[in-house]
Amino acid sequence: MSERERTDLTDPTWWRDAVVYQVYPRSFADGNADGIGDFAGLIDRIPYLERLGIDAVWLSPFYPSALADGGYDVDDYRDVDPRIGSLPTFDDLVAAAHAAGIRVIVDIVPNHSSDRHEWFRAALAAAPGSAERDRYVFRDGLGEHGELPPSDWVSHFGGSAWTRVPDGQWYLHLFAPEQPDWNWENDEVREDFHVTLRFWADRGVDGFRVDVAHGLAKDLGEPLRSHPHVNSMDIEIDGTNPLFDRDDVHEIYRGWRRVFDEYDPPRTAVAEAWVPTSRRVLYAKPDELGQAFEFDLVKAEWDAAQFREVIVDSLDRARTAGASSTWTFSNHDVVRHASRFGLPARTDLNAWLLTDGAEPAEDVALGARRARAAVLLLLALPGSAYVYQGEELGLREVADLARDDLEDPIWLRSQHTEKGRDGCRVPLPWTTDGSSFGFGGDGAHLPQPGWFAEHAVEAQDGTEGSMLELYRAALALRHRLLPDQDLVWRDSGPDVLHFERPGGWHVVVNLGSTPAPLPAGEVLLASAPLADGLLPGDASAWIRGSDPVTG
Ligand code: GLC
Ligand code: CA
Repeated sequence: MSERERTDLTDPTWWRDAVVYQVYPRSFADGNADGIGDFAGLIDRIPYLERLGIDAVWLSPFYPSALADGGYDVDDYRDVDPRIGSLPTFDDLVAAAHAAGIRVIVDIVPNHSSDRHEWFRAALAAAPGSAERDRYVFRDGLGEHGELPPSDWVSHFGGSAWTRVPDGQWYLHLFAPEQPDWNWENDEVREDFHVTLRFWADRGVDGFRVDVAHGLAKDLGEPLRSHPHVNSMDIEIDGTNPLFDRDDVHEIYRGWRRVFDEYDPPRTAVAEAWVPTSRRVLYAKPDELGQAFEFDLVKAEWDAAQFREVIVDSLDRARTAGASSTWTFSNHDVVRHASRFGLPARTDLNAWLLTDGAEPAEDVALGARRARAAVLLLLALPGSAYVYQGEELGLREVADLARDDLEDPIWLRSQHTEKGRDGCRVPLPWTTDGSSFGFGGDGAHLPQPGWFAEHAVEAQDGTEGSMLELYRAALALRHRLLPDQDLVWRDSGPDVLHFERPGGWHVVVNLGSTPAPLPAGEVLLASAPLADGLLPGDASAWIRGSDPVTG
């Protein structure tokens, strides 16, 4: 019997240990061959996702957008970009996913809209001091004629965080100028997001991923305060940052939770909050969003001590907060982990991208080996796991995209000092040949390199030892082995992680190079062949233990 037949869509606790697959819609599958992925393509691939064994999909933004920031510049929160689909095709997608036992999570972008949003247009058309302008953050400039920005705050993508409008006022945008920040002290803004949440929940959406969840509430008291790291993605917890991780933001999410709880089962949410773990769990409390991405694993080196510290700390804090941990190695904002793990420790990834991936050289075989080991860790940890499209194919970063092809606003806004995030957003290869490797028509919106052929679904489907088959096997086993939020650490060498889940499921990850002993029992799955019963370096294994372990 397939695991899927048992999926209970009314289960209110499903999210606590769900495996969520992130779809970046423009780059997943292109149904009408115009080079841009769409809902038709995605609906066609639901059987692929069902066979993969994931529990939910998270759709990055698919809303109408000028794509100034890959769709994170939203023109209308309650519609679908016509290049991607329509509201009826969205409904078809939800129906097809649910029929396959797959839940649907959509991305909500509450820190900013796009500059084409109806309310921003209205703000521009209205006078300074008007109710229309109060929905965003407009200020007069400094200097004799207001010719200087209201503060020294910088945009996350580079340059000032303020842009001047023709009547002389300035508006705030923590990201691109096309992404004006909402004023969350405005009641209309608060209410409108409730309308949006209900709009999608009413259409059957199961949960929400909350973009820049640590933004929204800001200290806009005059004079606007300087801060050394005002717009870094790594916010400290000294409470002095005027823009991020303000205590007030939690009141907003308590309001959202009340909306989620109007539904049966309650809708779920996960926060994108690049703040230290001790602060992040606050977003994940049961009366707020429920979960927050654990990004420390994204930032960690391939190092047993670092991994262990992150895991121990995160589990501990999640338990205390009544949340569940939310693990991930990759997403649409970071260099793919098959590349990260193939680069020397502490490589400056931005500098590496600027050399088009030439310097330092990537050890492709090592990266692939570690990525295989990594997924057996990811899927064995208590809590839920997020898989980014293409990692199940072992895709690496496309580090040598031509400058002319780059779409990420970071490239321009950083004055060509950062190449940006396009290298992990290249459309997926489905077939081993064809002009876009089965993605769609003649060309994909970002060009795919020739080496994508060997990673194509077609090349891996049914191929013993392929990355795709490892993901499928691990996901199928996880469904049988889980669901309990417990983990017990076992003694192991310094480069090895060894823990046991209830039911005698042992997980051993060897992050060093010396082969490591395994506990006695049945080897359920291994990321690399064992040698004389030992687990080689950069490999993981799942064992059903037969004896108490003696270290
Ligand atoms: C989040 C998104 C990222 C986007 C930014 C601004 O970090 O993941 O892709 O650029 O927010 O919306
Ligand atoms: Ca298309």
